Amino acid sequence: MLNILHHYFGTKLLNKIDPEISHAIALCYLRLLNQVVKKKEIGASILKTQIAGMEVPSPIGLAAGFDKNAEVFNATLSLGFGFVEVGTITPDPQFGNPKPRLFRLLKEDALVNKLGFNNKGMLYVSKIARKPKLGIVGVNLGANAKSIDKILDYTNVFEFLAHLFDYVTINVSSPNTKNLRDLQKPETLEKILQNVNTINVSLTRQVPIFIKIAPDLNKNNVIEILNVCEENNVSGLIATNTTINPNNLKKPTHFEGGLSGKPLLKPSNKILKILAKRKIASTALIGVGGILSAKDIYEKIKIGASAVQIYTGFVYHGPRHIKKMEIELKNLLLHDGYRSINHAVGALIR
Ligand SMILES: Cc1cc2nc3c(=O)[nH]c(=O)nc-3n(C[C@H](O)[C@H](O)[C@H](O)COP(=O)(O)O)c2cc1C
Repeated sequence: MLNILHHYFGTKLLNKIDPEISHAIALCYLRLLNQVVKKKEIGASILKTQIAGMEVPSPIGLAAGFDKNAEVFNATLSLGFGFVEVGTITPDPQFGNPKPRLFRLLKEDALVNKLGFNNKGMLYVSKIARKPKLGIVGVNLGANAKSIDKILDYTNVFEFLAHLFDYVTINVSSPNTKNLRDLQKPETLEKILQNVNTINVSLTRQVPIFIKIAPDLNKNNVIEILNVCEENNVSGLIATNTTINPNNLKKPTHFEGGLSGKPLLKPSNKILKILAKRKIASTALIGVGGILSAKDIYEKIKIGASAVQIYTGFVYHGPRHIKKMEIELKNLLLHDGYRSINHAVGALIR
């Protein structure tokens, strides 16, 4: 029964209606699933790995933006994800940008979104995130659109939520909140990190902190960000968020917002490669952007990602695709003689 529901949730039916409505329907179904799931299936041991010290049964994670309010993390974990990231969550609830704000580019295997951090805010999330989690759940944090002190927003939301999750991602790369990407500049990023680190050291359990970056950065920008991260105890970088560059499309056309899916594979891998070549061993990389097949995952792993995250590929192909890619990834590793996914990490740049 669940299998049939998963199939319809993941494929043609939902992909025919307005994308934001279909997302709401999927969430309704997942809320129900969330009530009944008790445990997560254990995948193939060859895929077991660690991200910044956290044990995960598979390197395939759910990217931020799908479960914006942390309402369905146990359900999404039960679909086969090795870990999930909820959010982006801001201090205050906010509606986001006016609708319509989510579009399918079917011929490009892509989505364009200009949602603008629509979420129910940190108070709501703090109430529901206390329930036991079936696996690793990270929280992605952002600033409110109307905030006059965006740096303070990160401090406040970190203080409120960090202790409830396994890791925290500081999102300074959404293109849909005005000037948010400016926070990737070394001086401002450093300030955010100093503030959250001060809180982190006072927690009973310190949480790994990740920084999520944009694909539309040049090499110098990326290296500057990496340096700031490594000087400020950041456990890893998530590369990347959506792109604003229409030239990444097969048929470049103007759009407003962030582009995800297939056209993002190359630009996000380019950023991943710069990071992988320069980073110190203890900095973890999570590769995101344009994953539609196990081959895409394998490529990111061989560039240097210890894990990956998916959004658009999941929306287009549904939960069964996650399990399928897991099996295919296992076969790709075995074919190349790897006994553990860890041995393949960074194979292309060694
Ligand atoms: C509809 C939509 C909403 C998103 N919302 C967020 C968000 O709230 N926070 C965030 O860090 N990334 C968000 N993202 C970006 C994804 O997490 C991911 O970085 C990006 O989509 C690239 O992965 P993909 O090509 O597999 O979709 C969103 C993406 C989409 C398509």
